[in-house]
Amino acid sequence: MSFLFRPVVSRRTVLRQAQDGRDWFELVDSAAPILLFDSGVGGLSVLAELRKVLPQAPVIYAADNGGLPYGTKTEAEVAARVCGLLGRMSERYRPRLICIACNTASTIALSMVRDVLNVPIVGTVPAIKPAAETTRSGAIGLLGTAATIRQAYVDRLESEFAADKTLLRFAAGELVGAAEGKLRGETVDPMVIDRAVAGLRDQPGGAEIDTVVLACTHFPLLHAELTDAFGPGVRFVDGAAGIARRIAALTGGQDFSRSARDLALFTKAEDSLAALAPALERYGLFRQEVLT
Ligand code: DGL
Repeated sequence: MSFLFRPVVSRRTVLRQAQDGRDWFELVDSAAPILLFDSGVGGLSVLAELRKVLPQAPVIYAADNGGLPYGTKTEAEVAARVCGLLGRMSERYRPRLICIACNTASTIALSMVRDVLNVPIVGTVPAIKPAAETTRSGAIGLLGTAATIRQAYVDRLESEFAADKTLLRFAAGELVGAAEGKLRGETVDPMVIDRAVAGLRDQPGGAEIDTVVLACTHFPLLHAELTDAFGPGVRFVDGAAGIARRIAALTGGQDFSRSARDLALFTKAEDSLAALAPALERYGLFRQEVLT
């Protein structure tokens, strides 16, 4: 029995249905997973932070490799894939919470997913607020996918938290492929990193940047390469640790029983998945499955 998946009932209704006096958090099956979703391996940067705060939590890491990359798709394409896939995955795997560990999907489809799924959803949005709070020069760079950097969601974050700062955006979609390759054990092409750096530095005011928002979950996987290329004096900010804390807060008081072999779920069978296995194992993902 799942209280999370009764069709469109409000949380208040669910609470009334818990007749034995316990609240609904305690009614969650201890083996119910937290489902992290991304187009590819980027959400592993969020999983790494989640493991620090909730090491005992069972996790399904879901990658829509059949739809990768999201950053070059239209809003309608991304929204349709994310809503459809999360609906299917929810029915199949009964997660206690879903984290959309993808800035592109979150900035486009977070509210739509929340409207259709009756399970707590945590999104990933560009960390403009912490960047604005810590920049000294007042010049912030933002690296994201082409789809993310054009979102009104990002405009709103800028006007709310960084109106008195200079925010320079650059679509660095090439870094997505570089991060995917790195996790398959491939060498990262330094030219790809250099183009992302130049994309910010070459804009008017770009030389003053002291803080770079990594507004794509793939990009923290290239932290070392980006640090080398930007040089000293630039600090990187991403949302992963904050998202992990939010998930921990929303699941506070729940029981967890985790098998040692969490699942990596893909939307398309392809040969390159075998090359990913060693990296996935470093994140505790020892089984692979393809969504059918
Ligand atoms: N990891 C995704 C994000 O955070 C994007 C990757 C893609 O283009 O699919 O935006």
